[in-house]
Amino acid sequence: MRVFKDEDGGLRNFGHSRANVTPSVNENPKSTKRLHPVHFGDYQNEIYLAGLHGVLPALPVDAAGLESRALQALPQSLVSYVQGGCGDELTQRRNVEAFAHWGMIPRMLVDTTSRDLRIELFGMTLPSPIFMSPVGVAGLCAQDGHGDLAAARAAAATGVPLAVSTLMNDSMETAAGLLGEAPGFFQLYTPRHKELARSLVCRAEAAGYKVLVVTLDTWLTGWRPRDLNASNFPQLRGHVLVNYFSDPVFRSLLAKPPEQDPAAAVRKWAELFGMALTWADLPWLRSLTKLPLVLKGICHPDDARRAIDAGVDGIYCSNHGGRQANSGIAAIDMLPSVVAASGDAPVLFDSGVRTGTDVIKALAMGARAVGIGRPYLYGLALAGAAGVEHVVRSILAEADLLMAVNGYPTIAQLRAAGAVRVAS
Ligand code: FNR
Repeated sequence: MRVFKDEDGGLRNFGHSRANVTPSVNENPKSTKRLHPVHFGDYQNEIYLAGLHGVLPALPVDAAGLESRALQALPQSLVSYVQGGCGDELTQRRNVEAFAHWGMIPRMLVDTTSRDLRIELFGMTLPSPIFMSPVGVAGLCAQDGHGDLAAARAAAATGVPLAVSTLMNDSMETAAGLLGEAPGFFQLYTPRHKELARSLVCRAEAAGYKVLVVTLDTWLTGWRPRDLNASNFPQLRGHVLVNYFSDPVFRSLLAKPPEQDPAAAVRKWAELFGMALTWADLPWLRSLTKLPLVLKGICHPDDARRAIDAGVDGIYCSNHGGRQANSGIAAIDMLPSVVAASGDAPVLFDSGVRTGTDVIKALAMGARAVGIGRPYLYGLALAGAAGVEHVVRSILAEADLLMAVNGYPTIAQLRAAGAVRVAS
């Protein structure tokens, strides 16, 4: 159910449509009257109005409630892989908790009846400032094992970009076909075989992905006690390797096709998985594509500056949700210096984002776009594409309503105001 409000204040219900998540002024197709702008925050009207008919939200709207429900639905191996992280998981806890020591000062007597959460990114105008972070086991998280496709459908329904991982349970091409008008980003785990790397990138370009994200912090896997104690590593069991098994270069490296000898194909994958990139490899990486190139995992301002000087188009400040290095500093605390060093280049951010309020704080601190990771996996686990859509809409609703009540009608004004470090 979508609710639109007429100028005369009457509430109208329209069918489920993407228009609701696009913060433009909408026209009622059956009326010549101009409607009020549709806002992400209107999702709460839907929920409250449905409640008048005894209908409660199918899934919790809060991050903690969503996580606890999803953890009951997921098999133990995925709970460990998705919820777990590196070492004693200090970094991933800090990622989340550190948002609490940043705050926003409300401004009053500002007209925020109309809010604009659109952003410009690499020449695209996006309806909202969030995207789905690349997640290698997204495919497995959906109950039917096709979570990458469900996430793509949710992207199409919400206009929120999806970053697909190299590690997928369906091919990047199949997912791209479901994205509708939402842009897709392709995240490369650079293999140790340069022609395979080139092939993956060329396929992503041909499939219509708009941005190439290269993840730097995962040429090998961090020390993850939960998974180690259960000897749990999905890729070695043959999961999420479809982009490799379907790749002509990868296949050419095998004695027998993966369908005939899957164990040998998995061994080849493990042999080739991660190239330990250095600065000397950047020109080669840059030469692979004309797509905007974004480096994921940059947390130090010197690295940000050097990457931009080397021709990279965007910086992705992230500590991989505390799954790789348990280095103990929350990603959000590293964001301001990365933004300061990045000049005009857009800085994407993730790690620890659980709520719309977190999104707003990251934007205020200079992120151009904010990645949602684990929460969307929990939506996937509970209700596939509809679950992801609910998570995305809940986060955007909270973000929009915070801007409304705090007196920030635009992201530019939000960013100018900045966030305040709260004494803990
Ligand atoms: C990830 N992340 C990740 N990143 C990446 O570049 N490629 C990948 O394949 C994956 N895979 C992956 C699997 C799982 C289970 C998780 C939770 C995360 C990292 C991801 O893009 C993002 O940086 C983190 O999810 C951010 O942390 P939070 O906010 O989810 O805690």
